[in-house]
Amino acid sequence: MPGWCRASLPRSMPRPHNEGMNRQLHLNLFIQSRGHHEASWRHPASSPLPLTDIEYYRDLAQRAEAGLFDSIFLADTLALMDTVAHAATNWLEPVTALAALAGSTRRIGLIATASTTYSEPFNLARQFGSLDHISGGRVGWNIVTSWLAAAARNYGGTGQVSHADRYARGEEFVQVVKALWDSWGDDAVLDDRASGQYARADRIRPINHAGAHYTVAGPLNMPRGPQGRPVFVQAGSSDTGRRFAARHAEAVFTAQMEKATAQEFYADLKRLVAAEGRAADQALILPGLSPVIAATEAEAKKIARDLNDLTDPEVGRKRLSGRFGGHDFSHLPLDRPLASEDFPDPGTVEAARSRTEVIVGLVRREKFTLRQLLAYLAGARGHYTTAGTPEQIADLIEDWFNDGAADGFNLMPPVLPSMLDVFVAEVIPLLQKRGLFRTAYEGSTLREHFGLARPAARL
Ligand SMILES: Cc1cc2nc3c(=O)[nH]c(=O)nc-3n(C[C@H](O)[C@H](O)[C@H](O)COP(=O)(O)O)c2cc1C
Repeated sequence: MPGWCRASLPRSMPRPHNEGMNRQLHLNLFIQSRGHHEASWRHPASSPLPLTDIEYYRDLAQRAEAGLFDSIFLADTLALMDTVAHAATNWLEPVTALAALAGSTRRIGLIATASTTYSEPFNLARQFGSLDHISGGRVGWNIVTSWLAAAARNYGGTGQVSHADRYARGEEFVQVVKALWDSWGDDAVLDDRASGQYARADRIRPINHAGAHYTVAGPLNMPRGPQGRPVFVQAGSSDTGRRFAARHAEAVFTAQMEKATAQEFYADLKRLVAAEGRAADQALILPGLSPVIAATEAEAKKIARDLNDLTDPEVGRKRLSGRFGGHDFSHLPLDRPLASEDFPDPGTVEAARSRTEVIVGLVRREKFTLRQLLAYLAGARGHYTTAGTPEQIADLIEDWFNDGAADGFNLMPPVLPSMLDVFVAEVIPLLQKRGLFRTAYEGSTLREHFGLARPAARL
């Protein structure tokens, strides 16, 4: 199937000169269902544990920690997907799940998604502030505006909140939580039994925020966390999403289908970050990578084909419709080549705008039929998929890393835990030999793993 075979992998290419000798690759494990391939949940190599069992997530986090990953990541949506009859996903609310995982891991970073459209800044600042304390400074917040139309109906709305409104609200939300996390000085708590002084009241200040969407007096009712603030992660790639990331994000997840677009995204975002007066290396760019790995390329491609044979095109059709804000694709035949006119203009999409740009671009380039497009997206929903040997995957990672396409990767194993295990056992040692990846954890916080500065308290 096209999704797995088209990517041409660089073979024994010349090693590009690594400008910063100390520049290190960053790896995040994105945990989703029993793997990122849509059919992973029914594949014989995927975990037998129920997706409601914390042991499943604990086991994966510990495997990733043994592989020295920077972090793990749990995504979240705020409505039940209409594909539930034939598709599995994570069920545990991510903040709750991360609290459990914090207790069963020691070094790895823990990133959870939470929405700026459907939560309150004060609640979120307390939850992630608590997680930062509980985990000893290992937490990151994936800031999303929640594109799913069905989410609005679970929060008192009747329809989609527009793309522009979601980002406007998100902008103010982030300003408020930053102020809340900065409302305590690092030295506010004395906890002095002898003198009887617990805290210095002059090092704790209200924020008195009154804006278009939020009115929050503050201060936060909790001391500042080990990282000052949790690491800010962001994953929107539209024009508005990029500008938002440039102002706030310290790590950026992105879906890129090929190296050239990844390089364009990387250059553009680093330029925008610099234009905001921030150091370019304080915003890491981590494209998704979903590799099937086997001893030979032929074997890897066979595994990928077998996985694709387990997919249900109607699950893919519903998912496609969701990305385009509920657009009806039911009339499209599965086996006629698609044209961009079969899709709404991505600029008018109020849902997952940048992903719809990726999909329409792919249709233009590849002239896929709907069946081929759905098979391609079944791999990792529009992220980069490939199949090859450990050496080929390491070459690809090194090439993107050294050629201005990535600071690291958001690893999305097609099947869990088996394809994570192969990556840890076979690819990581190659990256270490090439001097690209750590051989031991040096820091103890997620900021330290990512090489990010700890923000100073604004008091
Ligand atoms: C790796 C990755 C993970 C994401 N996780 C979530 C998520 O958990 N919840 C969510 O609502 N959106 C998630 N998104 C979607 C983006 O946050 C964003 O909402 C979407 O791309 C639309 O924004 P845009 O139009 O600016 O691109 C994710 C995107 C990527 C690339």
